Formats: sequence, structure tokens, C-alpha cells
Amino acid sequence: MKLLLVLSLCLLAPLKRDTDNQKLLTKWRSPAAVPDRCQGIEMDAVTVNEDGIPYFFHSGFLFKGFHGAAERANETFTELDEHQHLGHVDAAFRLHYEDHPTEHNNIIFFLDTQIFSYYQHKLEGGYPKNISEVYPGIPDHLDAAVECPKPECEEDSVIFFKGDEIFHFNFKTKAVEMKEFTSMPNCTSAFRFMEHYYCFHGHNFSKFDPKTGEVHGRYPKEARDFFMRCSKFSDDSDHVERERCSRAHLDAITADNEGDMFAFRGQSFICKEVNDTLKVEPIELTFKEVKSDVDAAFTFKDDLYLVKHVFAYRVGENHTLLDGYPKTVKEELGIEGPIDSAFSCDEHQHVHVVKGQLMYDVDMAASERNATNERSIMFPSDAAMCGPRGVTLVKGNHFYHFDTLKLLFSRAVPERHQVSLELFGCDH
Ligand SMILES: *[C@@H]1O[C@H](CO)[C@@H](O)[C@H](O)[C@H]1NC(C)=O
Ligand SMILES: *[C@@H]1O[C@H](CO)[C@@H](O)[C@H](O)[C@H]1NC(C)=O
Ligand SMILES: *[C@@H]1O[C@H](CO)[C@@H](O)[C@H](O)[C@H]1NC(C)=O
Ligand SMILES: *[C@@H]1O[C@H](CO)[C@@H](O)[C@H](O)[C@H]1NC(C)=O
Ligand SMILES: *[C@@H]1O[C@H](CO)[C@@H](O)[C@H](O)[C@H]1NC(C)=O
Ligand SMILES: *[C@@H]1O[C@H](CO)[C@@H](O)[C@H](O)[C@H]1NC(C)=O
Ligand SMILES: *[C@@H]1O[C@H](CO)[C@@H](O)[C@H](O)[C@H]1NC(C)=O
Repeated sequence: MKLLLVLSLCLLAPLKRDTDNQKLLTKWRSPAAVPDRCQGIEMDAVTVNEDGIPYFFHSGFLFKGFHGAAERANETFTELDEHQHLGHVDAAFRLHYEDHPTEHNNIIFFLDTQIFSYYQHKLEGGYPKNISEVYPGIPDHLDAAVECPKPECEEDSVIFFKGDEIFHFNFKTKAVEMKEFTSMPNCTSAFRFMEHYYCFHGHNFSKFDPKTGEVHGRYPKEARDFFMRCSKFSDDSDHVERERCSRAHLDAITADNEGDMFAFRGQSFICKEVNDTLKVEPIELTFKEVKSDVDAAFTFKDDLYLVKHVFAYRVGENHTLLDGYPKTVKEELGIEGPIDSAFSCDEHQHVHVVKGQLMYDVDMAASERNATNERSIMFPSDAAMCGPRGVTLVKGNHFYHFDTLKLLFSRAVPERHQVSLELFGCDH
């Protein structure tokens, strides 16, 4: 891959409107009851689990993470079904109050008049309880609930939603304050993610200020653009805006010597030029063999390498696969795939490979590749890149910058930045 061609790739790529494909998809869609979140469904409840993975509930189903098929919610939360036939969950949130260690990180569910408290997918003793016992003053049959720890709310609180009524429940004093959030639609579920607050209504969402209920910026937005990795579900949606602002994790990222950046997320190939122009196109338009879900990407001596599960792809001029590729990751990098990320800093002949919390060096000049120099790094990553200004590790919607490779191994915790806001220039 010559750099010039990368640039032209960024520029040429017209987004193909794949309406025929979409019709086909619709035709083949199974009429079974298992919901498909890419069809635009309303969520009953949304929360994160103990590890920060988002859980979306719809009827008796649960979607884990930002993509993938629905599971039956009773497979993960058995007792919800035993105590009350699991037609739906009204509301859910994760308790996140460090001042209350016994309940910190419990997931709380609201079903009609009852409340269920889970820790590590196990129902806590004494539950279910009546909502009125635990949250006096809060009505039954809620629409939505979301935690609001200090200092995002003045006190550790839970915000409850029913119709157009909003209740702030002070977790410590149990005082209830009714609030009027006039610019807010009625929420069917509410979600705190990365310290931001979202009200979902239909398949739209609005971001709100938990203290004032104000909605700033252009809302509502389409939930599938930001919280689900659905491909091409709508001709009207703005793919660039969607990738710019998506909170879903990146699969891989790399940069070339000119400072252009290439990122991969699900089926999307995101290209950011030095002047901050962002281009988005389906991966398969450019990298036919790869299509989606890249594990790692790195540039080495003007070649772009894509790593996917157990194969490494090396692409040449016009992004055609070079002879002899794909190879297995083991052959190319001397380590068993899948790997999490890989990067090369231009002053070295090495590629650094990250697998879990371990990093290895691969000497690309060696005829027989071997991943050596195994060592632990402080931060596991989904994606990583290196350039003249240092190493960038991406994890979830956050990234960390290290001025030198050495700093990856120090105990110092660098500042946390947001991918959507600071890497892609999303304005909200
Ligand atoms: C979950 O619910 C489905 C449908 O009601 C039922 O067939 C299945 O046996 C349940 N699974 C568990 C683990 O309870
Ligand atoms: C819970 O509510 C039900 C129905 O209102 C009532 O019969 C029951 O006594 C309540 N349980 C407790 C522990 O307050
Ligand atoms: C919001 O909820 C109130 C009831 O609390 C209802 O009267 C109103 O119609 C709802 N608005 C919408 C847009 O559904
Ligand atoms: C979603 O938002 C769009 C505007 O962004 C609006 O036209 C549409 O009616 C909304 N749909 C629902 C179900 O709220
Ligand atoms: C960024 O650079 C590309 C060419 O390299 C050009 O087509 C585009 O208009 C530039 N965008 C801005 C905002 O300057
Ligand atoms: C790459 O694309 C350019 C422009 O479309 C073309 O002139 C060139 O022959 C192509 N190279 C290869 C190796 O296909
Ligand atoms: C790879 O490196 C390890 C440890 O440095 C060494 O034991 C092994 O023989 C090497 N394998 C090859 C194929 O070079």
C-alpha cells in the first residue's frame, strides 16, 4: 500500500446505498418472535452489568453489548421468570455508589410492583421485595430508572421515570423530589453510560443533563446509530455522524506516517485525514476478503496489515490482497491468534502485538517470525496505534496516550480521553 493510494482511498470512497441488499434482508428476515434490534425496537430497560457491558431488555429478551443476537433474559436472570412470568422488565439500573459497598455494583430490576437485586447474576437474599419497601414514594409500574452518583447528581440518587413524571430519589436519606424535565420526552428506558445520561423513547434517544433534565443539542437521535452496530439499516442515517459519535468499541486502529488515521468498527472502515475530515465506508468495499470484525490493524513500512481471528492480510496497491496472503497469524507474527491489537512505531523494525494483558515484539526482518520479549502491560486494549507522538491505546469508548513505548509499562495512569469526542471530533 502506497501512502498516496491510502489518501485516494479516503477520498474516492462513495458510500454505496445498498437498497437491494436491504430488500433481500427484509425478505429473509425470520418471522419468529426473537427480536432483531436492527429493526428498530423499543427497549424496556437498559443498564450496564458489573463489568460495564450494556444490557438492553426487550420483552423477555436480553441483548448483551452493542451487537449480536438476542438471548432469553431468563437464561441470565432465572429468578425474574420464576417469581413473575417474564413478559418484560419495566426498568433497570446498576447501583454505583461507593459509599454503599454492600450494594455497590448490584443490578436492580423493576417488574410491576416488585424489585429484584442481583450481584454477579445471582439474586440477593430477601429479594424480590415490594418497590414501596425499598424506594418509598416511588410508584409501581415504572417506565425507566437510572442511577445518578455524586457528583453527577448533588447526592447519590436514582432517577425514576413514569409517564411524564420524574422522581429524584436520594439514596441516603430516601427523600423523594419530583422534578419537571420539560424538554424531555417520556422515557421508556434510561441509561447512564460513560458518565452521560440517555433517555430512550421508541428507537430514538436524547442525551440529558441529570440535574436539570435539559436536553442540549440536536435530539432525538436514532439509537441504532450510536448504541447498536447495525449495518445499513436506513438510507437516511448519516454514516459519518454515526461512526464519529458511536460509543461502541473500535476493533482496530492504525495511522500512517502522514498522520492519516484508519479505524475499523464492525463493518465500517473509518478514515480520518490530517485535516480532520472523516470518511466512512463499508469495509468490504475496500477489503473484499475481510468484510468485518477486524482484530487488529497496523502499518509497517508502508504496508497495511489487517489481522482477523487467525489470519493476517497484507494488502498492496489498490488494496488488493498480496500474493501468499492471507497467512495464519502464527505464520505472520509468530503467535497464535486471535490477538487484540498490534502496532508499529516507525523508528523500529518491530511490530508489537497485544494479547490480553501481555505484549510481545515481532522482528519483521526475521524470516521465521517469533513473538518474543513477553511482558505485562497495565492496560488491555481493543485497538492500538503508534506514531511520532507516541502510543495510543483504545479501550471501549476511551483512549489513553503514552508519549513513549516505555510508559506503557509504568504504573502511572495517563489521562483518559473519549474516542468519539477527542479522536473523531463528535460534538456531543
Ligand atoms: C426461558 O423462557 C422460555 C420461554 O418462556 C422457556 O422455554 C425456557 O425454558 C426458559 N428458560 C429458563 C432457563 O428458565
Ligand atoms: C408487598 O405488597 C403486597 C401487595 O400489595 C402485600 O400483600 C405484601 O404484604 C407486601 N409485602 C411486604 C413485605 O410489605
Ligand atoms: C407522556 O406521559 C403522559 C402521562 O404521564 C401522557 O399524558 C402523555 O401523552 C405522554 N406523552 C407522550 C408523547 O407519549
Ligand atoms: C425519532 O426521531 C425522529 C427525528 O429525529 C422523528 O422524526 C421520529 O418520529 C422519532 N421516532 C420515534 C419513534 O420517536
Ligand atoms: C481535507 O483534505 C482533503 C484532501 O486531502 C480535501 O479534499 C478536503 O476538502 C479537506 N477538508 C477540509 C475541511 O479542509
Ligand atoms: C490501481 O488503480 C489505478 C487507478 O484506478 C490504476 O491505474 C492501476 O492500474 C491500479 N493498479 C493495480 C495494481 O491494479
Ligand atoms: C522463539 O523464541 C523462543 C524464546 O525466545 C525460543 O525458545 C524459540 O526457539 C524461538 N523459536 C523460533 C522458531 O525462533
